Amino acid sequence: MRYCGICFVSLLGHLVGRTMALEDLKSKKGLALIGNLEDSDIKLLTSEKSPLSWYYNWSPTPTNSVGNSTVFIPLIHSLDTLKEDNIWSTLDGLPSSSQYVLTFNEPDEAEENGGSYISPEDAAKAYIEDIVPHRDSSRSWQISHPVVTGSERGLNWLRDFNESCYEIDSQNGCPADFIAMHYFGDFAGVAAWLGTLRGFYNSTEFQNTSILITEMALPQGNEEDNISMLNQTMTYLDGLDYVAGYAWFGAFRKKNANEWTGDGVSLLENDGDLTSLGEKYLGGTTSDFKTDGGSDSDSGSYVLQTRWSTIFLSLAIALGVLNM
Ligand SMILES: *[C@@H]1O[C@H](CO)[C@@H](O)[C@H](O)[C@H]1NC(C)=O
Ligand SMILES: *[C@@H]1O[C@H](CO)[C@@H](O)[C@H](O)[C@H]1NC(C)=O
Ligand SMILES: *[C@@H]1O[C@H](CO)[C@@H](O)[C@H](O)[C@H]1NC(C)=O
Ligand SMILES: *[C@@H]1O[C@H](CO)[C@@H](O)[C@H](O)[C@H]1NC(C)=O
Ligand SMILES: *[C@@H]1O[C@H](CO)[C@@H](O)[C@H](O)[C@H]1NC(C)=O
Ligand SMILES: *[C@@H]1O[C@H](CO)[C@@H](O)[C@H](O)[C@H]1NC(C)=O
Repeated sequence: MRYCGICFVSLLGHLVGRTMALEDLKSKKGLALIGNLEDSDIKLLTSEKSPLSWYYNWSPTPTNSVGNSTVFIPLIHSLDTLKEDNIWSTLDGLPSSSQYVLTFNEPDEAEENGGSYISPEDAAKAYIEDIVPHRDSSRSWQISHPVVTGSERGLNWLRDFNESCYEIDSQNGCPADFIAMHYFGDFAGVAAWLGTLRGFYNSTEFQNTSILITEMALPQGNEEDNISMLNQTMTYLDGLDYVAGYAWFGAFRKKNANEWTGDGVSLLENDGDLTSLGEKYLGGTTSDFKTDGGSDSDSGSYVLQTRWSTIFLSLAIALGVLNM
């Protein structure tokens, strides 16, 4: 084989370009932006001094009140989202800081629980036909594999997906530039699931591919549990090169938490102050995010809801908000 120095350098540049850029984020911390946030909440969470460097909102279009200094990562939620006529012109029209796109939210989960419920075969076909080609467009989109629930069922889905990918394209399967992860549970669970995913993606093709954690929390924890879980988890994730970022679930006021997570996961009090957990997430005193430890006067209005993203998504889909 003839040696080609320039080819090598350009191949290397290509590889590095594909895998390194997520690491250029100002910090690993992100914002999983659920609807129902007040503009003042968004301002607080994405202000100049906030350490949150990126956000997503489960949709392909950005949230107006977030400034352009917080990197927006669009999500193609479902096959329906992908079928929208102008989906790629919408994406291609985003500010150039948006280079990453998340695909198919929890395809192994029912739609009423926020999932996109797609068979691995259908997902592989759509991924190869309608998503992969955009890696080579002028925008050079960096794409993630679908993000499954942090469970054995999710892993089986990924396994079947990969199999379908190679049935369709025996050469390339379904390439990905980064991997997205969801996990709800304690620190040991997060670490174990991360290890499981890393083990699954341990072929040469995916080894060391950056992982972006887009949903993570300790549902139903008590105060000591949830703060120490967050602390331990952040310390751990901050130290791992292959973890590009993480977003806590959830960025909402306590009264808008759902029954499943419990209000202990909330970053915000009902009056918009940060909870102790919120302060911790935003770096506490070290980043000037210590509030007065505000009152929690209307905790009586805590409403039982199903998982928040479900309601938001159903509403958004019903109202056509996601069809823009
Ligand atoms: C953000 O960027 C978009 C597209 O480049 C632009 O239209 C919009 O005005 C910008 N918003 C702010 C707040 O700078
Ligand atoms: C990947 O596979 C290699 C070789 O089999 C093994 O040594 C390594 O521990 C694996 N890594 C993960 C994260 O499972
Ligand atoms: C996907 O399937 C191919 C072909 O069978 C296999 O070589 C590869 O290891 C699989 N990748 C993962 C991540 O399971
Ligand atoms: C992944 O990282 C390990 C440890 O840094 C390294 O030994 C290995 O060569 C890397 N694999 C690839 C495919 O880059
Ligand atoms: C942690 O969770 C508990 C129980 O859900 C809650 O009462 C407590 O306020 C939470 N702590 C913080 C700082 O939000
Ligand atoms: C976790 O808590 C320890 C002890 O309070 C503190 O020194 C450390 O900075 C915390 N880590 C994070 C990531 O908040």
